[in-house]
Amino acid sequence: MTVESFLGRRIADYDPPVRGDRITGERYYAQRWADAEWQHVWTRTWHIGGMAADLEEAGDFLTHAIGRESIVMLCQEDGSVKAFYNACKHRGYRLAWTEVGGAPLLTCGYHGWKYAPDGTLAHVQDPDDFPGGSPCGKVKLEEIPCTVWGGFVWFSMDRDVAPLSAWLGAAGVQLEQWQMGAMTRVMALKSDVPCNWKIIRDNFNESYHLPTLHPQIAGSIDDALDGTIFEMNPEGHNCMVMRGLKPSGRYPTADILEMPLAQALEYWELDPKDFEGRASQARDAILAQKRKLGAAKGYAHYAGMGDSEIIDYHHYTLFPNITLTMWPDGFQLLRSEPHPTDPERCIFDHWFMAHEIPDSDVVFGPMGPTPFEQVERETIIFGTKTLGDVADQDMSVAIGQQQGLHSRGYTGGMLAGQEKRVQMFHERLNDLCGIHD
Ligand code: FES
Ligand SMILES: [Fe+2]
Repeated sequence: MTVESFLGRRIADYDPPVRGDRITGERYYAQRWADAEWQHVWTRTWHIGGMAADLEEAGDFLTHAIGRESIVMLCQEDGSVKAFYNACKHRGYRLAWTEVGGAPLLTCGYHGWKYAPDGTLAHVQDPDDFPGGSPCGKVKLEEIPCTVWGGFVWFSMDRDVAPLSAWLGAAGVQLEQWQMGAMTRVMALKSDVPCNWKIIRDNFNESYHLPTLHPQIAGSIDDALDGTIFEMNPEGHNCMVMRGLKPSGRYPTADILEMPLAQALEYWELDPKDFEGRASQARDAILAQKRKLGAAKGYAHYAGMGDSEIIDYHHYTLFPNITLTMWPDGFQLLRSEPHPTDPERCIFDHWFMAHEIPDSDVVFGPMGPTPFEQVERETIIFGTKTLGDVADQDMSVAIGQQQGLHSRGYTGGMLAGQEKRVQMFHERLNDLCGIHD
C-alpha cells in the first residue's frame, strides 16, 4: 500500500477514523439544529469579513452580516483592523449599513453619536444631559477578535477563540504557497439560496458527483477516484487534490484536440498535435514548461510554489463553511452561511481572487475571461442570473436535495468511501452541537 501521496505527505497523517453516525434529515430543516449551530458553531469559529484591500485609511470599514448579527471592521491609524458588533451603544441602531465605506468618525443615523475607529465614543448631542456627565471617551463599541490573513479580514465572535493560525493548522501553512494576499478579488457574487447551508457543504466535501453533474470539466481535470487525494486535518478542515490539465482517467481515449487542454498546450508553447493519443501526458509537459518559462512570462509567483500547486486543483474546506479552491493563478471562495431566520435557506458566496497576468487585462476564472479589477459583492436574486456554470449545477441539486431530505423515505444516507469528508463534517457538528440522534 502507498504510504505517500503525490504531494509527498503521509496518507495516514490525514486519514482519521470516523464513527459512522447517521446523517439525519432533520439537521437540514429543524430550528433546534439552527439554534444549536448558532450557539456552538457560528459564534465560536473564525469568519471572513471581507477584503483587506478595501481598507486603505483610518475610518474605512467593512461590514459582514451572519445570521442576525452584523460586524463592522474598522481600519485603524496604524493600518491594523479592529472588529466590533455593528450596534450603537445608545439604543442599538445598526451603525454601518453598507458592506464597504469609510469616514473619520462612524456616525449613528438615529441620534448622531459618533465613534472613533478604535470604537471609542467621540461625540454625542447634548453631552451634559447624561447622568454622570458626557459618555464620550468612556463608552466603547463591543470589540471582538479580528485579524488579517490571506488578503481577507477575519473576525470571531468568541473572545477566547484560538489564534487564526492555530485554527487553520496545517491548511494555513499549505495555503501560504499561493500568496493569496497578493491577489485581487475580481468576482464576488452572493445569493440567498433555498437550501440549508450544510447541503452546500456536503456537496463541496465530495467529488463523487463530478462525472454526473459537471461532465464539462472532464477534459481538463482528472476526476477519477484513483487519481484524487483526500485529506482530513485534526482541526476539522480538509483538502482534496485533483490533477489539473489532465483529462479524466474515466475517459482515457478522449481526443485532445477537442479539449480545453489544447489551448493550454499552445499557451505554454507546445503543439497539441504532439499529444494526440496520449493526452494524459500533457500535464507533465506543461508543468515542465511552466517551470522553464513561468518567470519570463510573468508568473513570478510560481517560484514559491510546489509542482502540484502550479498545475493542479487543491480544494480546501475550512470547517465549518468556507471552501477555497486553489488554481495555479487564483482561487475560488465558495461559502454557505446560515439564513437569519429560515433553516431551509442560506447565503451563498462565490468569489474569485486572482494574480494579475502580465500583458493581459483579463484573468481566467469560473466565469471564463474576467476583467482584472477589484470588485465589491454583487447580490443576485437566486435564479435570475448565473452564479457560474459549475456553481449553478451545484445549486440546482442542492435545492432538489432540500426537498428529498424531508421525505419519510430518507432514512439517513449511505456514503461511499470517498465521501468520508462528508461523514467527518457531520460527526464534528454532532459533537459540537451535542446532538447525537
Ligand atoms: S441609537 Fe445610535 S445614537 Fe441613538
Ligand atoms: Fe460540484
